[in-house]
Amino acid sequence: MAKKASALNVALIGTKFMGKAHSNAWSQVNHFWQRPRAVKKVVCGRDEQGTQAMAETWGWEEASTDWQKTVRRKDIDIVDVCTPNHNHAEIAIEALKAGKHVLCEKPLAMNVAECEAMTKAAKAAKGKLNFVCYNYRRVPAVSYARQLVQEGRIGRVYHIRCVYLQSWIMDPNFPLVWRLQGDLAGSGPHGDLNAHIIDAARFITGDEITEVVSAFETFIKERPLGAMTGGLSAKGGSKTGKVTVEDAALILGRTQGGALASFEATRFAQGRKNGNAIEINGEKGALRFEFEDMNRLKFYDATQPSKLQGWTDILVTEADHPYFGAYWPAGHIIGYEHTFINIAADCLEAIGAGKAAQCGPTFADSTQTQRVLEAAQRSAKSKKWEKTGC
Ligand SMILES: NC(=O)c1ccc[n+]([C@@H]2O[C@H](COP(=O)([O-])OP(=O)(O)OC[C@H]3O[C@@H](n4cnc5c(N)ncnc54)[C@H](O)[C@@H]3O)[C@@H](O)[C@H]2O)c1
Repeated sequence: MAKKASALNVALIGTKFMGKAHSNAWSQVNHFWQRPRAVKKVVCGRDEQGTQAMAETWGWEEASTDWQKTVRRKDIDIVDVCTPNHNHAEIAIEALKAGKHVLCEKPLAMNVAECEAMTKAAKAAKGKLNFVCYNYRRVPAVSYARQLVQEGRIGRVYHIRCVYLQSWIMDPNFPLVWRLQGDLAGSGPHGDLNAHIIDAARFITGDEITEVVSAFETFIKERPLGAMTGGLSAKGGSKTGKVTVEDAALILGRTQGGALASFEATRFAQGRKNGNAIEINGEKGALRFEFEDMNRLKFYDATQPSKLQGWTDILVTEADHPYFGAYWPAGHIIGYEHTFINIAADCLEAIGAGKAAQCGPTFADSTQTQRVLEAAQRSAKSKKWEKTGC
């Protein structure tokens, strides 16, 4: 029988936007959740000074600039991958081979082949768990939406309608950061934002997307070279380069369960900052979630007498709503950072119990999301419906 862990040493790879979100999660998780203790052992980045500063700010015991050495350290239990997409597979596979549990940021990898290699490595790493950071699954309202679907409250699902709308690169002088380079990101808002809403749709409905047709567009084709400075900010120079990802990606899809789905991801939606919204229309009711109002879930119950029908605005902050009970009294709302704390809590619980996290997703599960993404990329080129293989 596996030894029960009382403390787990974490190595974090990546120090900027997600590095900060995950550092906060590992720092906070044991304040709210009774779980094996997360020890912030080592943070790893590329620049020595910046990584050292990160370690000091967030209380990591050590700083490193060598991820290979870091993931092989004997005293590390969990490797948390928060680097750009192109090196998720390499780092995660190396960490699994070194006998670590792995939490990897989304999208799981650049393509399905890499996801499959990661899943294979995960299967071979006996007793080691793997998790993908699709954090919107851990918004209490999203988790509750899934419960309502599972309880049959909306009946058969006819429509899954999702958008993820941002505008942070609309300035043509916004630099050509890694997120706009195909060899580092794999794709633009498609792998970044469609990945989230496809995962959330699969999570809430329990359905799989079987075929897709899509249209992609790159509006600004050349930009100044530059780098991310943290969050979604960046700094550029005077030389320019070619944008090699799409700026917007629209998908229509059909599901195994017979629903029609649509997904729209763009970084050119003027007026929208992080407009992640999901609406699901079923025979008996409907659900609507908007991330910028993340403590609420809208529910339409068509089983009520017609005179009473209307959208119910549920404040998802009761102690028996998913996740919320760990935090505050009802009505004392939570935020973006709690989605990451919830992931850390689920990882620690799963590792402590020696089984996959209840609401996943594992590498194998996230490979399904990647299959949909890849089929949509094929469709954008072929201009035809493409099977996802899901
Ligand atoms: N779950 C979410 O909502 C969410 C939000 C944003 C980003 N992400 C994902 O998180 C990942 C990181 O994105 P980000 O926004 O934090 O990027 P970022 O540019 O802000 O930070 C990337 C970090 O990775 C480090 N890095 C790159 N190569 C490295 C290497 N070889 N060794 C060590 N460190 C290395 C960089 O130094 C930097 O600290 C991406 O996969 C992205 O898709 C997820």
